[in-house]
Amino acid sequence: MSPATPYSFPAGPRGPMPLHAAMFARDAWGFMSAARAQYGETFTMHLPGAKHWVFLTDPEHVKQVYTGDPAIFHAGEGNSILLPLLGKHSVLLLDEQPHLRQRKLLLPPFHGRRMAAYEGLMRTVARDTIDAWPTGTPLKAWPQMQAVTLEIIMRAVFGVEEGARLDRLRTALETLMAEVTRRRTMLLVAVLGEQRFARLKSVRRRLTAVDDVLLPEIAARRGVADLEDRSDILSLLLQARDEDGGAMGDRELRDELMTLLVAGHETTATTLSWALERLVRHPDALRRLQDEVREGESDVWMTAVVRETLRLCPVISITVRELQEPIDIAGHRLPAGTRVVPCIHLVHRRPDLYPDPDAFRPERWIDQTPGTYTWIPFGGGVRRCLGASFALFEMKTILGEIVRSMDLETTTAPGERMRSRAITRTPGGQAEIVVARRLDREAEPERVAVAG
Ligand code: HEM
Repeated sequence: MSPATPYSFPAGPRGPMPLHAAMFARDAWGFMSAARAQYGETFTMHLPGAKHWVFLTDPEHVKQVYTGDPAIFHAGEGNSILLPLLGKHSVLLLDEQPHLRQRKLLLPPFHGRRMAAYEGLMRTVARDTIDAWPTGTPLKAWPQMQAVTLEIIMRAVFGVEEGARLDRLRTALETLMAEVTRRRTMLLVAVLGEQRFARLKSVRRRLTAVDDVLLPEIAARRGVADLEDRSDILSLLLQARDEDGGAMGDRELRDELMTLLVAGHETTATTLSWALERLVRHPDALRRLQDEVREGESDVWMTAVVRETLRLCPVISITVRELQEPIDIAGHRLPAGTRVVPCIHLVHRRPDLYPDPDAFRPERWIDQTPGTYTWIPFGGGVRRCLGASFALFEMKTILGEIVRSMDLETTTAPGERMRSRAITRTPGGQAEIVVARRLDREAEPERVAVAG
């Protein structure tokens, strides 16, 4: 298309922005699926933050966005709703050079080969929680998974053993997260704007309670004599240097720690909850997983179960980029300011990529590896989730602990409906499960208290 080509937008659902926002908040998966059915592969919605949100469901278009120039495809603006919580230095909110700098500083602790260092911690925390689960009565798995993943990320980040500081941080974070992850809160941010929202007294009080733990912890850690020998994430970040030899300041560190705590815990907990929700409704898949884990020879089926859960129930259903310059995509010329939206949920439900796309079928992953632009639960390009290896490893470890140590009852009850929280999409019944029987643990791997 020539620069003179007029701007145009793909067709999409009618109605004003508040209506679209309300429908998206109530049932994002349903609203997007209905738009796809009516308007085709590419459609436009009107949501807060920008006039036009162009949803993309063709992997070629997704590729164009994820491999596009980061100076044109900004992600920071699309995430600005998180500003009051994460702070302006958060890697999620930056773009271009500042984003690349933060990303490079943050990457080393999340490198795939470091994962083994977290295994003992993950097992210990998972066991401490699941050993207390009752048998024979319904149990909501989602809050339990939330507690496990929060504990793991807190201890992986700080490397501190159980203690008063960790208790204070846990309480402060739980209170803050309970407040900000409510749908009502997100609507409030959309209405007030991030800056005014952050100035609300109740929000400030809760943020201060978290900072009162985080900032002294950062300052104290700077001064420890054995910093170089420590392997927790905070200690690694304190030693990280950018290309000019610069280190992160306290405020930057605070914002990045907050980002890791927030981005890394509910996403993982919710995916685990969906995995349990699906498995108890698919007895063959559950039995096969138990057999594989208890034999301990391979993790092929576990990998397939986790991939299929992330395909069918992606807890984050869209990724967003705001155009800084006009682009041509999907036969349209879009102006700067448009938000282009690689739609995780709808790419994952394409029948040409995934036959019988609404069915939970881990076996589809036995001879298929995930495609970079067709399996996108962690987004893509220079913004791909920093914690993807950590999350995959953590989910396999926790799920492994559960199916190794107990039999779960299967059920013929209908699947739980998706419930939208502020950002994530969770099982509406909080993933109810019943432990049928507990098994003796044999050959227990060593228990450890901190990431080592
Ligand atoms: C199942 C669990 C998880 C899912 C589904 C998930 C998904 C995502 C998605 C969709 C994005 C946006 C990518 C894009 O815009 O292209 C993202 C970004 C990010 N995630 Fe995750 N995430 C998970 C776990 C984690 C964990 C455990 C951590 C860290 C401890 C983490 C840290 C981050 C960070 C720092 C970013 C921002 C990356 C950037 O902007 O450069 N996530 N994640």
